[in-house]
Amino acid sequence: MGVRIIGTGAFIPPKTVTNDDLAKTVDTSDEWISSRTGIHNRHIADNMTTSYMASKAGKMAVADCGIDVLDIDMIIVATSSPDYPFPSTAALVQREIGALRAACFDISVACTGFIYAYSIADAYIRAGIYKNVLIIGAEVMSQHLDWSDRSVCVLFGDGAGAAVISSDKSDTVGTVTIHSDGSQADVLRCNKDNIVMDGREVFTFAVRTVPQVIMEVLQNTGTDINDVTMFILHQANRRIIEAIAKKLKVDITRFPMNLSEYGNTSAASIPILLDELKKNGRIKAGDKTIISGFGAGLSWGAILVEW
Ligand code: UT7
Repeated sequence: MGVRIIGTGAFIPPKTVTNDDLAKTVDTSDEWISSRTGIHNRHIADNMTTSYMASKAGKMAVADCGIDVLDIDMIIVATSSPDYPFPSTAALVQREIGALRAACFDISVACTGFIYAYSIADAYIRAGIYKNVLIIGAEVMSQHLDWSDRSVCVLFGDGAGAAVISSDKSDTVGTVTIHSDGSQADVLRCNKDNIVMDGREVFTFAVRTVPQVIMEVLQNTGTDINDVTMFILHQANRRIIEAIAKKLKVDITRFPMNLSEYGNTSAASIPILLDELKKNGRIKAGDKTIISGFGAGLSWGAILVEW
């Protein structure tokens, strides 16, 4: 049995905050932020909740693939900013979109959340238990920011992205590899309400582990790196992605990016980018893409997806 992504969707809140806007309230500049990160802008949820944005993205993903919403067997929301400790954001999405048959829960794996959610969907589908799983990465990261801490507040943004993962008769490749290292839990964490991190450590960790896990997935699936059309990475920082491309000896043009517009939207960054690439025709049927995420935990992982 194969597994495919059959639909995608995304919701970006309309309110924007540019680097120049931030420079009015903290000691920073467009030059510093854009040269260190590649980020020029971010979107902020304002009064919108994570479940609101997740429902919008989820509805679009279901409409994109044309399945009946009642055929969704499971909804997984990856988020570090749920509306409530409980009920789960996924349960609120279920109510909003009317996916009444679905089992619903959230997972907390920060920026690697979409990869972990995919791995759960993949396992349930390959085991023959479920056919259609809606996975969503949705974040109101702005609620976790100390807006006077220039080392962190310039990096993040809000948004939601979704994908419908479904069983497929053809034997599509698709191996997920996920890892965690709890001994590094303090490197990137959310204390009460605010994100604190050792930026340099996170940078080094990402550049070390992401090429490794990508090579692991390629080896496990017997895939030649030259047959991968695109490497769709968590959108944290342009320099991290450039360093990973260099290590893999792959041209940077095969690493699409949209972080300039959205900043780091944590679990939402990968599905927002997937939706963009699908809608603008850059992902085509038959393409093999690597999708890879990294973040707090520390956690990291990669998937080979055939479209
Ligand atoms: O999903 C994963 C989330 N985390 C990440 O993506 C973080 C990964 N790390 C990074 O992207 C980089 O480490 C940063 C962009 C966060 C920082 O870049 P850096 O080159 O590692 O800078 P730094 O933290 O070593 O700071 C260099 C200087 C410091 O000043 P001094 O001590 O040299 O005088 C900082 O205080 O830059 C200063 N600085 C800033 N200056 C202007 C830190 N943040 C800012 C800022 N504007 N926003």
